[in-house]
Amino acid sequence: MRRDEALNWARQRIDRQDARLLLQYAAACRHADLLAHPETPLDAVAWQRFIGWVERRAKGEPLAYLVGETEFRGRVFQVSPAVLIPRPDTEVLVEQALIRLQIARSASLDTPLSLDGRGSPHPRPLSHEGEGRQIPPLSRLRERGRERGFGGEGEGRAGALAKPRPLSPTPLPRGERGLEGTPALLDLGTGSGIVAISLALECPAASVTAIDLSPVALAVAAANAGRLGAAVEFLEGDWYAPVAGRRFAMIVANPPYIAADDPHLSGDGLPFEPRQALVGGADGLACLARVIADAPAHLHPGGWLLLEHGHDQGATCRNLLAAAGFQDPFTQPDLSGSDRVSGAHL
Ligand SMILES: C[S@@+](CC[C@H](N)C(=O)[O-])C[C@H]1O[C@@H](n2cnc3c(N)ncnc32)[C@H](O)[C@@H]1O
Repeated sequence: MRRDEALNWARQRIDRQDARLLLQYAAACRHADLLAHPETPLDAVAWQRFIGWVERRAKGEPLAYLVGETEFRGRVFQVSPAVLIPRPDTEVLVEQALIRLQIARSASLDTPLSLDGRGSPHPRPLSHEGEGRQIPPLSRLRERGRERGFGGEGEGRAGALAKPRPLSPTPLPRGERGLEGTPALLDLGTGSGIVAISLALECPAASVTAIDLSPVALAVAAANAGRLGAAVEFLEGDWYAPVAGRRFAMIVANPPYIAADDPHLSGDGLPFEPRQALVGGADGLACLARVIADAPAHLHPGGWLLLEHGHDQGATCRNLLAAAGFQDPFTQPDLSGSDRVSGAHL
């Protein structure tokens, strides 16, 4: 079977770009190779792999699970059905954490904070030593980056890093304690490790701890950290249980936040993702409420809690933060303008 024949066969069954990406993975070649040499035959192994992937994709299985990897903040993360597929929306969480870490660091170094047009501190080079391999073009998967369970249009949001966004810094109170020096950061519900690993690599001064209830997810996260050269302490357990008695300068979390009866759970690839990573109790708020309520006991004075949540959960999160004794609660929208991350400090 020639490459172009294989592609035509697949295009009758799945999305055109998905077909091309799967063929690139199956044949271990680049897009340019497909264009330049469409007549090259697929060997039997590649053809069988391609057929299998196309059939599974046609049944709705996410592309990232088929090929076993996806991209977040310009890095390739391995994924398995044991972990949530990273969403571009979660970049908002990482960026909000980095803004606060950078501001604290700038203040302690007495250097001006430099913001680029995306509202975040100038990013460190993504391919510096120790961060692992360069991103191959064929790994730039167009995973359908819809918000978990709340719909959205079909185009993926994988271009999130490249798109400019309006600068909308939330006013930051002065004098955050514990963010200077070697801030201790905690990522709750780490999944594939994208948040903890991104923070560890982009804020090397920090010491990062990450927790998940799922030992299989933790194995994926630890493998990603090892491959990308990130120093992260991974602990298994129920939210704060593994860090009893410990305090942090900042806690970040992207907990499950979909309501158990949300009809979106049965569409858009979500049935393939772990329910434990998606569902936050009957109303979607159970995990958010638990993480917020128990946070003060695990933060230094002035410490920050930042949470990703659903588009209609911002006001509730701010109320829960205030009720737990946090100051200056804020909500930051994502690229599509939906409420996405809320946070506050003690
Ligand atoms: C929405 S996923 C987030 C994964 C990853 N942080 C990300 O942003 O892609 C939520 C994660 O929380 C974990 N989780 C669910 N309940 C938990 C609990 N009680 N304690 C710790 N982790 C939990 C799930 O296993 C899952 O990995």
